[in-house]
Amino acid sequence: MPLNNSLPPASAAPETILDGSRFVRACLRQPVDRTPVWFLRQAGRYMQEYRDVRKHHTLVEICKQPEIAAEVTITAAEKLGVDAAIIFADLLLPLEPMGLDFEFQAGEGPVVHHPVRTTEDVIKLRTDRAADLAYVAKAIEKVATHFKDRLGIIGFCGAPFTLASYMIEGGGSKNYIETKKMMYNNPSAWKMLLDKIITVLVEYCRLQVEAGADVIQIFDSWVGALSLTDYRAYAYEASERLVKEVQALGVPVIYFGVETAGLLGEMASTGADVIGLDWRQPLNEGWASVGHGHAVQGNLDPITLFAPQEILQERVHEILRAANGRPGHIFNLGHGIVPGTPVENVQAVVKMVREFKL
Ligand code: CP3
Repeated sequence: MPLNNSLPPASAAPETILDGSRFVRACLRQPVDRTPVWFLRQAGRYMQEYRDVRKHHTLVEICKQPEIAAEVTITAAEKLGVDAAIIFADLLLPLEPMGLDFEFQAGEGPVVHHPVRTTEDVIKLRTDRAADLAYVAKAIEKVATHFKDRLGIIGFCGAPFTLASYMIEGGGSKNYIETKKMMYNNPSAWKMLLDKIITVLVEYCRLQVEAGADVIQIFDSWVGALSLTDYRAYAYEASERLVKEVQALGVPVIYFGVETAGLLGEMASTGADVIGLDWRQPLNEGWASVGHGHAVQGNLDPITLFAPQEILQERVHEILRAANGRPGHIFNLGHGIVPGTPVENVQAVVKMVREFKL
């Protein structure tokens, strides 16, 4: 993997590491003064400041107004004292320039009005309008201007499988029947769909990197629905291509999925710099499956944030001990913060990570 190999093997962390470079250095497995920390869905409904903004704007309105998206991103990162800020956007935004309308229905999650089911549906999808997503880049520019080098700035997109599953199912899914039907029964449409998604996502990521994203996270949130055999047959190649094309833009890539214990080695073969781990296996076991030639991110169960401080601290320390000071660990949750999470517990985790000594 070119990025990792081209970097000098720093033997000791510099004495003063700016918070932003601490996160990026860890992505590249360079030594750092302490483990960097940020949280999946760190800006969201668990935070009063976000709920206040949401009273006046829909989710998509927030995403499309760079001033507001930047403010939401910055407010959350500053309130928590994390080492990285993930841009406030949504996985589904690229569907619109591809020609698919969607909305977020209260309590229902996303709904795509005319799901992609046939070859003709795939043919109709457009790949020439990624520039319509420039509003996300504008928000990144504002966040980058605000933080300068103090925090790492994370841009993101969905992985081909996960985005395709939303397009085909028309929303979230339990069994991914329609998605798997297309994979198995119409492999040429499936392949064309993934190719089109990649074309749009590479342009979208280019906009984000040019605007100041230091790292891109690729969310393959629902890839755990696939067996290892099907991951290899229907998802791996597209993920690998996206990872490589995003790295060619000059940034490290974090590749994240949930319920992926059986897929980790294969996910690492995409060449992603960092693999996101969920909480279902101990961090050291996940890291061993990934291989120590990659960094890892994770992996506290987000629901632990509802536990009393002693249990929370035990779990946080367990993860940090499992990482054992090896360069290339970024502390995070195994999946996103859920509504109702006490903000003070999230802040407490930041303090625990900052103060931890092996
Ligand atoms: O700080 C942050 O991480 C917020 C930025 C962010 C959002 N969505 C805003 C959002 C990010 C990184 C995402 C990514 C995203 N979107 C993923 C991948 C992450 C993951 O959890 O695996 C997925 C699968 C989506 C699609 C999506 N968006 C769903 C399924 C839902 C509904 C679920 C729910 O909790 O209601 C959303 C809505 C959404 N996107 C919210 C936020 C803050 C909550 C709804 C709201 O504010 O109305």
